Amino acid sequence: MRLKATNIEHFYGHEKILHGIDLEIEPSKITAIIGESGSGKTTLLAILSSLLKPTNGDVYYDDISENSIKDINAFRRKNIGFVFQFHYLIEYLTLKENIALGAFDEHNINTLMENLGIGHLANRYSNEVSGGERQRAAIARALVNKPSFVFADEPTGNLDTKNAVGVFELFKSFNDTTFVVATHDKKIIDYADVIIEMEDGVVKCISKKRV
Ligand SMILES: Nc1ncnc2c1ncn2[C@@H]1O[C@H](COP(=O)(O)OP(=O)(O)OP(=O)(O)O)[C@@H](O)[C@H]1O
Ligand SMILES: [Mg+2]
Repeated sequence: MRLKATNIEHFYGHEKILHGIDLEIEPSKITAIIGESGSGKTTLLAILSSLLKPTNGDVYYDDISENSIKDINAFRRKNIGFVFQFHYLIEYLTLKENIALGAFDEHNINTLMENLGIGHLANRYSNEVSGGERQRAAIARALVNKPSFVFADEPTGNLDTKNAVGVFELFKSFNDTTFVVATHDKKIIDYADVIIEMEDGVVKCISKKRV
């Protein structure tokens, strides 16, 4: 599925945070959004992923304007996986139950957990595991339905290099999913096919890996 954003502007109160962003996200690739803290990465990601309505501008999925999607909940459920900057899991559920919560098909869960190195923790409650293990469970939850898009905000923030690389190797193995990842993490930027650099609410440059 293609994703396009045109003339995105966003205000929080009177403060203008995004200043007219135009971009197209390449399907089935990994796009990293980088830039300093406060440059607008999370805000842009929230807009691209349909969670936040921009003050001005439009987001299109396969040339269909987000505004014209009648059942946005169904659209999100079917097409989008989210990994939030502060990964929210339900503390009363085990890691596996957290991942199963929105899953259409539970068969993938064990494999995904194994691939993320948390298979042995399936029956632990989310408050009984480390931050990095919770983060990987949140990633599994976003991937479990093999969505068209995964929007991930700092998905490797709590992970060491080995696990961060593991997460991106796993992303790469999802050939039909488009990943848009906001990150500070220098060690995984090499895994991105496209890098969008933000500066003070504008796109400073877009670079593509040569294939
Ligand atoms: N809900 C909000 N209300 C008011 N201002 C906000 C809100 N959310 C973010 N901002 C401001 O908007 C700007 C961009 O924030 P955003 O969270 O998009 O940055 P970021 O690039 O994701 O930063 P970080 O790398 O620290 O996560 C910042 O100046 C921030 O203070
Ligand atoms: Mg952020």
